[in-house]
Amino acid sequence: MKIKISDPIENVPERLLSWYDKHKRTLPWRPKDGSRPDPYKVWLSEIMLQQTQVVTAAPYFEKFIILWPCVTKLAEADLDDIFVEWAGLGYYARARNLHKCANIVATTLDGVFPDNELELIKLPGIGAYTAAAIVAIAFDLKATPMDGNFDRVMARLHAIETPLPTAKPALKRLATKITPDGRPGDYAQAVMDLGATICTPRNPQCLSCPVNACCLSLKRGKTTLIPKKKVKQRKPVRYGMAFLCINAKKEVLLRRRPNSGLFAGMMEIPGTSWTDCLPNSLQIGASQPTKTTWSDIQGTVVHVFTHFKLEIKVVRADIKKSIKINGLSWHPLETIDKAGLPSLMLKIIKHGLE
Ligand code: ADE
Repeated sequence: MKIKISDPIENVPERLLSWYDKHKRTLPWRPKDGSRPDPYKVWLSEIMLQQTQVVTAAPYFEKFIILWPCVTKLAEADLDDIFVEWAGLGYYARARNLHKCANIVATTLDGVFPDNELELIKLPGIGAYTAAAIVAIAFDLKATPMDGNFDRVMARLHAIETPLPTAKPALKRLATKITPDGRPGDYAQAVMDLGATICTPRNPQCLSCPVNACCLSLKRGKTTLIPKKKVKQRKPVRYGMAFLCINAKKEVLLRRRPNSGLFAGMMEIPGTSWTDCLPNSLQIGASQPTKTTWSDIQGTVVHVFTHFKLEIKVVRADIKKSIKINGLSWHPLETIDKAGLPSLMLKIIKHGLE
């Protein structure tokens, strides 16, 4: 089939909205009857969807809504319980900010989320994208949530060849210009769904696209070349050592991380700090949680963070007694996956037990 390319950017919102009415995805945070969604659910889903795919976030969202059906209940929850339920979603600062934000909304805003970007952006964990998404989806007010889908769809429609992220401000201006006054919430979700199902990063399904007739990249045969991306720098590697200590009761020794930085306030396997080179014997000696004989576990645990790659060497000690060590605690191995540990720590334990 040949696609007839008409005037670019003509009737994009109308075409997208009627496509959305027929093809929108069934997602747990979208009311089935087409009514306006609860701002709490929109906020919760958008926080989960930061850096997480829809398929991964959906079951977590459903579990959270059962456990904490409103913002007040979430505010009353124990942060460690939230960490337990969050385990696997990654980027744990989001869980900490989720709890902080719920507390502010429940206690200082009478449980009501603000309906404007300026107020929303003041809340923990809410950036420009999330504020715009909440305003559009929960309140059906005009806002343009620029996520990866929006960037890609706008870049392709307008054939913007400037690489990302340099093109972002221009893409935001172009997207804002065509955001409709009517149904801005559905329009935002239509662009997200289009980006996730049709205008995908690789192999876009241009034949099925409701706006193919307005797409300048398609007209120029450049859909797979746009958006261009700046060549990524290689991630630096950091190294560390983890001390997996297990007692005769099959409990594992844990400590709590400091209240700021990566995995702030979460439990972890004790270890050296993470540095640019392998820890030396002095650092290892000073970091061991208790003086004992440690055996090497072959191989390493590799974990990729946003800004660096981490390589952890695991050493293990099986000790007879459940000694008390200042600042550390024992946790049964059997229920370790319910201890609210970051998935990196579960990987370390699994590796050390193999
Ligand atoms: N990605 C981020 N937010 C979304 C939403 N509300 N619907 C679909 N995909 C999304």
